[in-house]
Amino acid sequence: MQVTRLSEALGAEITGIDVSNIDEATYDAIHEAFLEHLILVFRDQDLTPQQQITFSEHYGEVEVHLATDHLHPDTDKMILISNKQVDGRYVGAVSAGDYWHSDLSCQARPNLASFLLARELPTDGGDTGFCNQYAALDTLPDDLRQKIEGRNGIHTFNRMRNPRVKVPEMHKGDAQMRYADRAPPDGIHPIIRTHPETGRKALYVSHRFTVGIEEMPDEESRPILDAIFEHQLNDDLLYRHKWRLGDMIMWDNRCTTHHAYGGIPAGQIRHMHRTSLIGDVPF
Ligand SMILES: [Fe+2]
Repeated sequence: MQVTRLSEALGAEITGIDVSNIDEATYDAIHEAFLEHLILVFRDQDLTPQQQITFSEHYGEVEVHLATDHLHPDTDKMILISNKQVDGRYVGAVSAGDYWHSDLSCQARPNLASFLLARELPTDGGDTGFCNQYAALDTLPDDLRQKIEGRNGIHTFNRMRNPRVKVPEMHKGDAQMRYADRAPPDGIHPIIRTHPETGRKALYVSHRFTVGIEEMPDEESRPILDAIFEHQLNDDLLYRHKWRLGDMIMWDNRCTTHHAYGGIPAGQIRHMHRTSLIGDVPF
């Protein structure tokens, strides 16, 4: 197994292994690389859904996603991120990742890690960006850090409660069902969270899910969150991944955020398999 850094900010490429056939020592080496590099790109993986689930389960309990209409037809432990249509209906989540986020931070127990495998790719577009939230915190200006120290962020699944995001055009008609009815109670989490395995502190707010700061009026929290979201876009914190067929990325939601850049040419398909792990309650 070779581990090669992908950028100054975060990420490493893993080559020389088939994740459907590895031993205990390799699982451990991957775990170590994961904690060090925050996101891992496994090249050339041709995995069945069950093989991806088995690999994921080695690092925690796989979650059944709340967007049940996007589940893989053969297993509820996987969702499809896809713009493919069958009989006029999209088979997976089309707008997933359109704003920066950490997976399901809107839940009491957000996702620990996610695994995304590229099964079909367009000739252009469809990149995914990743942001290192340890570094985002380390480089946050002191005055801004003082304003959030000890504070909790309010995270919601409901796009209609978040003025920073839009309901995608295709979901305008069923937004109530899709975003409001299925939203779990707000996730209330420390804005500066401690990674349970490394002990390092990371920023834990995002454009997509964070709509306020607990016990702070919106007029006061809005400029603070805006300034943090702006800071999180600093190039020095980012890695932008151009997918190759067979790439599987494993990312740590406790210390990174990610974003789907879109830009897929009309008529082309991007079809991905995703699993994710149930995480701890952030502290
Ligand atoms: Fe995501």
